[in-house]
Amino acid sequence: NWTMVNIVDESVAAVQQQIGTKRAICGLSGGVDSAVAAALVQRAIGDQLTCVFVDHGLLRKGEAEQVEKDFVAATGVNLHVVDAQERFLGALDGVTDPETKRKIIGREFIRVFEEAAREIVGENAAEPVEFLVQGTLYPDVVESGGGTGAANIKSHHNVGGLPEDLQFQLVEPLRTLFKDEVRAVGEQLGLPAEIVWRQPFPGPGLGIRIIGAVTRERLEILRDADAIAREELTRAGLDRDVWQFPVVLLADVRSVGVQGDGRTYGHPVVLRPVTSEDAMTADWARLPFDLLQRISTRITNEVREINRVTLDVTSKPPGTIEWE
Ligand code: XMP
Repeated sequence: NWTMVNIVDESVAAVQQQIGTKRAICGLSGGVDSAVAAALVQRAIGDQLTCVFVDHGLLRKGEAEQVEKDFVAATGVNLHVVDAQERFLGALDGVTDPETKRKIIGREFIRVFEEAAREIVGENAAEPVEFLVQGTLYPDVVESGGGTGAANIKSHHNVGGLPEDLQFQLVEPLRTLFKDEVRAVGEQLGLPAEIVWRQPFPGPGLGIRIIGAVTRERLEILRDADAIAREELTRAGLDRDVWQFPVVLLADVRSVGVQGDGRTYGHPVVLRPVTSEDAMTADWARLPFDLLQRISTRITNEVREINRVTLDVTSKPPGTIEWE
């Protein structure tokens, strides 16, 4: 595709022009925007770029590995991984209020990223890191009134509030692009389809899809159920027709069920597949009954703690896409 080749070539040239021989860092979130921004900048300046991936333990099954292995294999990028799972779990201990969860996750994210940035900056005093790469898209620019930095909703991944002694100039190679163009650029750069076609995923991750306190065990339960739902959706060939497909664990609710000879007292999950253009409004996705059936059977068979699968049939408004 000629247009995409041009967009990639022009963006690479612009980034080379902006950064020159200096160094840059980029935070990877697991999402498509930061991945494509990083891959573009890597193409432009190679080893002058270091990426930071904060593993907060709230990603879905296989997503951390996709960043750590597949993304690195596809781009050859220099990746600094911080395993911060314990730290995030500790900070979230006993917290049930959605906004408090968001604040804690955002705050910890910035702290961990800052520490990593400091280490990387300190590594080589002769070649200072002067640039921070961000995956800001055109709609983010518009939403935030045209200034630098993206919409507030993404704020904790955009690391706006770095301290005085860590001042970076921003590199935003996707600033003029829409999501479909970003995906095309990602494909052009040879990124794996699992990353390029990933559905939007909230920064606070599974932390806001567990209704109740976040624990390691609950994360494992939700990760397993979520992986089944995603796998079946993909197998049915419908993953690109659905905007997002949250699976929500009602961790403080139990209901009675029966399995084999015994009664169970397990947790329900809610399937929340939605269609949408921009997440501002959404409709519940009319997934085929046989697909819902397969997801339900597999989740209750394969995830021991879950004995009930329910479907959310609320549009937005009045419901939001996420449950928290
Ligand atoms: P709601 O639930 O408000 O979500 O309909 C709209 C879109 O925003 C995502 N979302 C978030 N993204 N940090 C994010 O980066 C957040 O705290 C957050 N909360 C919701 C949600 O997944 C949907 O795409």
